[in-house]
Amino acid sequence: MTRKIFFWFDTMDFSNKLLKWYGRNARDLPWRNTSNPYFIWISEVILQQTRVNQGIPYYYRFIEEFPTVQALANAPIDKLMKVWQGLGYYSRARNLKEGAIQIVNEYHGQIPNTFDELLKIKGIGPYSAAAIASFAFGRAVPAVDGNVYRILARVFGIFTPIDSSKGKKEFFELAKELISKKEPGRFNQAIIDFGALQCTPKSPRCSDCPFSDYCYAFQNNLITSLPVKGKKKPPKNRFFYYFMIKYGNYTFIKRRRENDIWHSLYEFPLYEHEKQLKMNEIGLLINSINFLKDTQPTIRYVSEPVKHVLSHRIIWATFIIVHISKPNYILNSEYHLTSVEDLSTYSFPRLIDGYMVAEPVAKYFICLK
Ligand code: ADE
Repeated sequence: MTRKIFFWFDTMDFSNKLLKWYGRNARDLPWRNTSNPYFIWISEVILQQTRVNQGIPYYYRFIEEFPTVQALANAPIDKLMKVWQGLGYYSRARNLKEGAIQIVNEYHGQIPNTFDELLKIKGIGPYSAAAIASFAFGRAVPAVDGNVYRILARVFGIFTPIDSSKGKKEFFELAKELISKKEPGRFNQAIIDFGALQCTPKSPRCSDCPFSDYCYAFQNNLITSLPVKGKKKPPKNRFFYYFMIKYGNYTFIKRRRENDIWHSLYEFPLYEHEKQLKMNEIGLLINSINFLKDTQPTIRYVSEPVKHVLSHRIIWATFIIVHISKPNYILNSEYHLTSVEDLSTYSFPRLIDGYMVAEPVAKYFICLK
């Protein structure tokens, strides 16, 4: 069925034009050459917070290491983290494993084939459910994300804020009408590429856009005003002090467990403070930090704060190399002792990994006696 949206434009026009554009411009991406719902699921989770080019090698490696739902359900968490290392947002990998366990236990290892059933799987939200349902099973459910908001807001002149519940509902309903009922998977792929290549957030290519004749934003010079977003909260600053403790040829690390960022990854003993400390304040503080008490710590090096931006917070991490003459009870009981040469075999958050790879001081740390 087709509906007139404006007197000059109906729903079929939109999907026909979009699919025609896609025929000429589609990107050749590895997860598009398969209808295996497991592979599509993996690709969607990787692509949630990762750019396509960065995601491709991870996708190949992931499906090679864990080629089936069963293999993922049985994956050791350390191996999973190692494969995911560098992608960030590690809860995605843990949720994938939990989702896989659920599919094995509740669905005989078969990924459900409807949008509503997919939504019941741990870690599968509306976007991934729609993507899997349409790409793998040909279901006509729109996969609505920032691309869709931007394209529809511009083409149809929708000013409802995209981060309001009213906006979300309105865009979803419109996308449901627009989606091709014959080729829903292709329609969803097409809109992804159209958002990535043509109707980009900045400097969209309006001059050769198939919608430019009736795109509301283009016709009214409102490209930079659409889509409309509500006010965002500013990110919160957190100040981390990582102690790279040298004890002979050994150091101490710990696996994050708390309900916080990066859990399951390793890190150096961490002291968090509510503000950025000056060098002399670090010197004064060092004897009162519980994992350093009675260890006779001497500071060998203090880094500049390293800025690490996450979606809702900014982390300022200072790396401090200290030498100790004996570990205290807390280091012995709560931390994991490892030789400095073996550090590279553990999975660290990108912040720490990047620091250890990029900074010459890391070499110094390994050699320091
Ligand atoms: N982003 C989210 N899903 C995607 C897909 N299937 N292809 C390219 N980019 C995407």
